Amino acid sequence: MSHVFINGNWCRPEEAVVSVFDRGFLFADGIYEVVPFYAGHALLFDQHMDRLERSLAETEITNPYPRDQWLSICQTLAESVQDANAIVYIQVTRGAEFPRQHLPSADIVPTVMATVSHWTPPTATAAPVRVELMEDIRWLRCDIKSVSLLGNIMLKREADKLGAFEPILYRAGRITEGASCNYFIVKNNMLYTPPADQLILGGITRDWVLNLAESASIEVQEEAFSIQELMDADECFLSSSTREIQPVGFIGDHPINNGEVGPMTQQLAELFRNSRPHAIEEHS
Ligand code: PDD
Repeated sequence: MSHVFINGNWCRPEEAVVSVFDRGFLFADGIYEVVPFYAGHALLFDQHMDRLERSLAETEITNPYPRDQWLSICQTLAESVQDANAIVYIQVTRGAEFPRQHLPSADIVPTVMATVSHWTPPTATAAPVRVELMEDIRWLRCDIKSVSLLGNIMLKREADKLGAFEPILYRAGRITEGASCNYFIVKNNMLYTPPADQLILGGITRDWVLNLAESASIEVQEEAFSIQELMDADECFLSSSTREIQPVGFIGDHPINNGEVGPMTQQLAELFRNSRPHAIEEHS
């Protein structure tokens, strides 16, 4: 069974190698994408491809493949794991060249890697977690899904040391996102999430949640909210491709909705599960 795709070839994980002169290794000069598969069916594949294309265009890295070829690579990977419930990881770096130089050569060829891991999608709304407020120390182009994740990793480790599930980041007093997720709050039956500007990664799950909310006639505001508004929220949850909708019960020591799953969070989590490819239910 092949698990890793590298530059057009398939190999086992232990055989998967790239050059130490790859600019992904030297400069984190690359982008990535994470696509969830449910029993072999991707959720929102085109949206993930739109974002991949955008990350490549913004960084001026050549897109190595047309969309149908990406789909075929991803499907082959998903089908190689048990139940085909899978998280497919795609990475494209600017390529490898020697000697190391900041400015890449014009004719450099991108390095493409895709791999897969087995995944158990949630079958019920998860128990609320605690998140920790932290200053957003990352760069100002968080809209690009770049592999330059050192800031995210430092924040994630700091949150972990405090026993928190994720950091919840703020910049100039406004909530941005997490180290690997987006955030939502509910106040007076209105759903708020920060705008998809350059300070956050526009999550595919985020957009889908907004879509589901609008179709359920929930009022939505894509609007920055302050730390105080977060603390005063009726409900809070985070979203990502791997966690779907994850309720938040505590910001540090401060409880939200008494540390319990709120009604709108529950409603959206159910709508989300109903909108996924159905085949997953047969395997759970
Ligand atoms: N992370 N914001 C950041 C910084 C992220 O890294 C992610 C996802 C999201 C949510 O995006 P989406 O809904 O498209 O998954 C928001 C992925 C899962 C990761 O890095 O593994």
